[in-house]
Amino acid sequence: MQHNPLVYLAPLRDEHVSRYLTLSADPILIATMGWEPFKQEEVHRFRAYMESITVPYMQSGRTVAFSIMSREDQTPVGYLSLKGIRNGNPGAEVGLAIMNSAYRGRGLGTEALREATEYAFAVLELSLLALTVFTDNLGAIRSYEKLGFTKTELLIDSWSLPDGTLADMWVMELYRRSGRTSGNRCDTPPSCLDSLSQAQ
Ligand SMILES: CC(C)(COP(=O)(O)OP(=O)(O)OC[C@H]1O[C@@H](n2cnc3c(N)ncnc32)[C@H](O)[C@@H]1OP(=O)(O)O)[C@@H](O)C(=O)NCCC(=O)NCCS
Repeated sequence: MQHNPLVYLAPLRDEHVSRYLTLSADPILIATMGWEPFKQEEVHRFRAYMESITVPYMQSGRTVAFSIMSREDQTPVGYLSLKGIRNGNPGAEVGLAIMNSAYRGRGLGTEALREATEYAFAVLELSLLALTVFTDNLGAIRSYEKLGFTKTELLIDSWSLPDGTLADMWVMELYRRSGRTSGNRCDTPPSCLDSLSQAQ
């Protein structure tokens, strides 16, 4: 049966960023992303956040940034970035947020990350994706575990929150399995590849 994802990934555009900046003061986002809300003119700081490396063993490199598009209404609902991409390096870090609260808790975030893992493993030919997540972000952890990510390291007091307190983070990793992408569906080409190839 043909799988029809709820989302597709598209190149991140300036007008998407502008929309995301206005949504960045959502208390859920402040709590889960650990950021100071962005003002409209803070495009550069937002992009720097999207590109920042938080996994200790990852190094800076190229970023491929996407918008998560709701297939139902063609709306950009969040971002997903693959960062630290370097020639000869088998791994990259991933970060994402469903910025529009109306689209959370409906499977879109998990589906977007599934698309991104397929792209990272099949197109970028990476063999490892890693991320960090606050230990109290149980919804995100559940989403990542559904895709096969596992917790590998606890980083104590590793993120400074806007209120000045420190938060613990898990490092989570997903390795490509030979011939397959993480045990998820991978028998058909990723549905997003055509649009993604334009993003590089
Ligand atoms: C994290 C995020 C990307 C997940 O995407 P999503 O589309 O909202 O998540 P999903 O609808 O796929 O649901 C994820 C799972 O978590 C579960 N979940 C939600 N809240 C939970 C909680 N408090 N405890 C345990 N599980 C929870 C859901 O039930 C679902 O599991 P299920 O499908 O087995 O029922 C999205 O919620 C988001 O962007 N949140 C704000 C920013 C953020 O946290 N970004 C990640 C930072 S590391």
